[in-house]
Amino acid sequence: MPTLIRLLPLILAIVAPARSAPTITPPPAVLAATPPMGWNSWNWFNRKVTDADIRQAADIIVSSGMREAGYLYVNIDDAWEGTRDAHGVLRANEKFPDMKALADYVHSKGLKLGLYSSPGALTCAKFPGSYGHEQQDADLYAAWGIDFLKYDLCGFRTIMTEAAPNDKREQLRLMRVAYEKMHQALLQAGRPVVYSLCQYGYDAVWQWAPEVGAHLWRTGDDINATFASIALIARGQAGLAKYSGPGHWNDPDMLEVGNGKLTLDENRTHMALWAMLAAPLLAGNNLTQLTPEITAILTDRDIIAIDQDPLGKQADRIFAEGPIEIWSRPLANGDVALAVVNFGQDTFLRGISLHLQAAGAGPGWHAYDIWGKKNLGPIDDHYAFTLKRHETLVLRLTRS
Ligand code: GAL
Repeated sequence: MPTLIRLLPLILAIVAPARSAPTITPPPAVLAATPPMGWNSWNWFNRKVTDADIRQAADIIVSSGMREAGYLYVNIDDAWEGTRDAHGVLRANEKFPDMKALADYVHSKGLKLGLYSSPGALTCAKFPGSYGHEQQDADLYAAWGIDFLKYDLCGFRTIMTEAAPNDKREQLRLMRVAYEKMHQALLQAGRPVVYSLCQYGYDAVWQWAPEVGAHLWRTGDDINATFASIALIARGQAGLAKYSGPGHWNDPDMLEVGNGKLTLDENRTHMALWAMLAAPLLAGNNLTQLTPEITAILTDRDIIAIDQDPLGKQADRIFAEGPIEIWSRPLANGDVALAVVNFGQDTFLRGISLHLQAAGAGPGWHAYDIWGKKNLGPIDDHYAFTLKRHETLVLRLTRS
C-alpha cells in the first residue's frame, strides 16, 4: 500500500478540528444498523431454559439456515441468574455452569450471545436484578463475552414508587436514570452491546429511549401465541414509525411464529407485519421442532429483505376499514412494500383499492407477491384480491 494512503487516517486526525464531547455518548453506529435478528428463550422455554437448550438452539440456527438468513443473536431471557458472592459478583445458576464457555461456544458458531437483567433488585421471575450492581454486572457481561442485553423494568417499579410515592413525574425520571445508568455501565465496560429496553412502552419510551442508549425498546405488553395478541400489538404500532430508524428500533416484542396453534396464514401475517414494522426479529419458538413450513416463513428472503431494508423506515398504516388494513413502507432502492391484512374472521372476497398513491406508488407499478412468489405485472388501484381469514397479501412494488 502506498505510504500516503496508509498515513491518510493519521493526517486526517491531525488536521480535523477538535470537537467538544457530546453529553451522551451515542451507541456505536454499526450496532443494530438494521433491526436485530436472532432467537430468545422466553416464549418457548420460559424459566426452564438451560445451557444445553442454548447450545442446541445455536446448533439449529446454523443447521436450519437461520444464521444464513440473518438470525445472529441467541438470547437467554430471565432465569439464568444465581446468587451474588461476598463481593457482590453475580453467578449464573446451576442451569448455566459456565457462562463464558457457553459464550465461546455460541461465538464459535458465528453467532452472538445475549442476556437479560433488570434495573430492579429482582427480575420479573424473581431472580437477582442489577440494582446497585450495574457496573459490576456490565463488567461481568463483558468478561463473559455478552453481545446483547435486555433490561426489563420489573422490580424497579417498586423502587421508583417507594422513592417518590406521590410524584409520578419523579418516578418516571428515576426510571430513565436507571436505564441511563446501565447504558453508561455498558459503555464503561467497553464491549459493544445491543441494549434492549423492556418497560412495556411506559411514558412514550420511543420519545426518549435513544437518549439512554437504547437500540430497541418494547412498545407494549408481552406477546402471546394467539392471533388476538399479535393483531392487537401490530395495530397498536400505528403512528410510531417516525421514532424508529437505523440504530434505534421500536420493538413490538419477540416472534411467536411456530408457537401455539397459529395457522399458516396467521404465522405468515405475524412475520409480514413484524417485517413491515422494521421490528427486531427474535424468533421465540422451539427450534428442535422446526417444521419445513415454519423454517420457510422465518427464513423467507423477500420478507427479511423488507425488515432489514437499509433505509430503516417503519411502515405506516395508510388505510383501515373494519378488519382490512393496508400498511406501507418505502424501501432503500425506491421500491415500496405494501401489506394488505385481513384481521377478520371471514374471507374477504372483494377487491378494494390498494391506495397506491398513499403508499408512494402509482398505477402501472409492477408488483411482486411475496408469499405467492409470483410477479403480478403492472397493477392499478383496483387489484382484485381475495384474502382468507387472518391472511396478509404482501407486495413489493417497483416503478415501471
Ligand atoms: C417480562 C418481559 C418478558 C420476559 C419476562 C421474563 O416482563 O416482558 O418478555 O422477559 O419478563 O421474566
